[in-house]
Amino acid sequence: MTDLAVWNCAQLVTLAGPRRARGGREMRDLAIIPDGAMLVRDGRIHAVGPRAEIERAAARDAEAINAGGRIVLPGFVDAHTHPVFAGTRADEFEQRAAGATYAEIAARGGGIRSTVRRTRQADEADLLNAARRYGEWFHRGGTTTIEAKSGYGLSLEAELKILRVIRRLAADGRLRCVPTFLGAHEVPDEYRGRSDDYVGLVANEMLPRVAAERLAEYCDVFCEPSVFPVMQARVILTAARRLGLGLRLHADQFSADEGARLAAEMGASTADHLESTSAEGLAALQAAGVQPVLLPASVYHLGSSRYPAARRMIDLEMPVVLATDFNPGSSPTTSMPLVLSLASTQMKMTPAEAITAATINGAYSLRRGDAIGSLEPGKLADFAIHDAGDYRELAYFFGRETARAVYVGGVCVFP
Ligand code: NIG
Ligand code: FE
Repeated sequence: MTDLAVWNCAQLVTLAGPRRARGGREMRDLAIIPDGAMLVRDGRIHAVGPRAEIERAAARDAEAINAGGRIVLPGFVDAHTHPVFAGTRADEFEQRAAGATYAEIAARGGGIRSTVRRTRQADEADLLNAARRYGEWFHRGGTTTIEAKSGYGLSLEAELKILRVIRRLAADGRLRCVPTFLGAHEVPDEYRGRSDDYVGLVANEMLPRVAAERLAEYCDVFCEPSVFPVMQARVILTAARRLGLGLRLHADQFSADEGARLAAEMGASTADHLESTSAEGLAALQAAGVQPVLLPASVYHLGSSRYPAARRMIDLEMPVVLATDFNPGSSPTTSMPLVLSLASTQMKMTPAEAITAATINGAYSLRRGDAIGSLEPGKLADFAIHDAGDYRELAYFFGRETARAVYVGGVCVFP
């Protein structure tokens, strides 16, 4: 591979800094190099610095990438997505526009279970084609890594099918994927009224197979009193931890604190959503070192105004993460630029805090902080040239996809 020399960057937004997730005031420091440049060798970042310095260091035959006076950022690390599903839920979206609520639709058999019925019927090739299409959408927003959950199969075979699709999407080499098993996303139709039996299936049959086939790095549970209450979620997370999986948790999306307390008790890597978490719940997460993953696009799409308390979390020095929650029900968007906008307008995060949450903090939440999430020598050359002259414009102009070119491991994946 010849070297790449990326130059003419209005701002090279490096996020160089301590080798850990960033909290509190640290989140405002993006370590920007004005008129910066970057040298890439063998798919990794070799050097970053002011243009003149990098020009001197670059080999004569290096391939020049002219950023055109735009900004260059690390690829976004979207640490919470559900990208493998069949069909859409545009019909339910229409019902919600006419006044139905997400919970009402779910109670009458719609919601997650309607996507499950379709996903079970779909074959692996069709699911892979759909996931590849969404993969391109992720690129358009400047995302280079996603955490990808199963959870629309809810039977052993269908969950394995989804995890194999994630593995094949990752094998394309265009979008890095960190797989998460979410067999406890909902109680499937055939286990209605027998949720303990379903929990047993997840813990005793699905999880061991998933672990044996190394199809997931993390296990997640939709912890909610009406879906999987704490007692059941604990059974699943305990089994997952015994099998060596990391833990993430859908916590307190609709009701307060039980999820946060469980995530803290279990020492989960992340607690995700947290729209309903109280000050006590946050304190428990903070004390246990659990990273909060905030998903404002799902709040927006559900027409709610209850956004998580990002400012309070940052005041507590918690290393906040931002992600899309891409899924067909509550958050049909792949756009991290949209999430940055919502973070600033609805949760009062500064544009710099939001970018930290969407890159280096997401990377550390996935145990990838040593490899991705910032532009520092030795790291993988995952970066995007965005159509902006200043990083604040990513959150300021909204409703557009900003990436002009995206590189994964030094290879152009978009356009
Ligand atoms: O993160 N809350 C549970 N899971 C998703 C919604 C999935 C769906 O509606 O299909 C979420 O918001
Ligand atoms: Fe989710």
